[in-house]
Amino acid sequence: MNKKLYNINDCKVIELGKYYRPNGNLTAVEGANNQIGFDIKRVYYIYDVPATSDRGGHAHKELMQLIVAVSGSFDVLVDDGKKFKTITLNRPNLGLLLPPGIWREIKNFSSGAVTLVLASAPYDEGDYVRSYAKFMDYRESIK
Ligand code: TYD
Repeated sequence: MNKKLYNINDCKVIELGKYYRPNGNLTAVEGANNQIGFDIKRVYYIYDVPATSDRGGHAHKELMQLIVAVSGSFDVLVDDGKKFKTITLNRPNLGLLLPPGIWREIKNFSSGAVTLVLASAPYDEGDYVRSYAKFMDYRESIK
């Protein structure tokens, strides 16, 4: 298949800029000006996660995402089938760019953590790879 095979080096933390004001800080994200490399078609957020729970545990075939800890902190494990690394997100002006074809797990949620996800497409269950074995098969199939 003629598709880009991303690896964990493509999973980058970018600084989103911050407007400091005496009355508080503000961070803005735009899809259109190439700040994150894709147009934002969907926003969702994960909250009230019990301390012992994990999220994610899947990969996407096409979806690009930017993950931000808008409150609190958590770890994102990214895995390309050969290597993995864990990235801690703990500042609202940092975003983890997550390309397609990467297995991810989100763990170690702090109390009050909110995971904001900006995504390049509407929700589509068909875009998910929900088992690690199928993820390995999928990586092979797009080589
Ligand atoms: P899922 O993506 O599996 O959550 P996570 O990866 O964070 O553990 O989604 C959980 C449920 O929410 C699933 O049943 C589908 C639904 N969902 C939507 O309806 N729209 C969305 O944009 C997302 C991300 C999930």
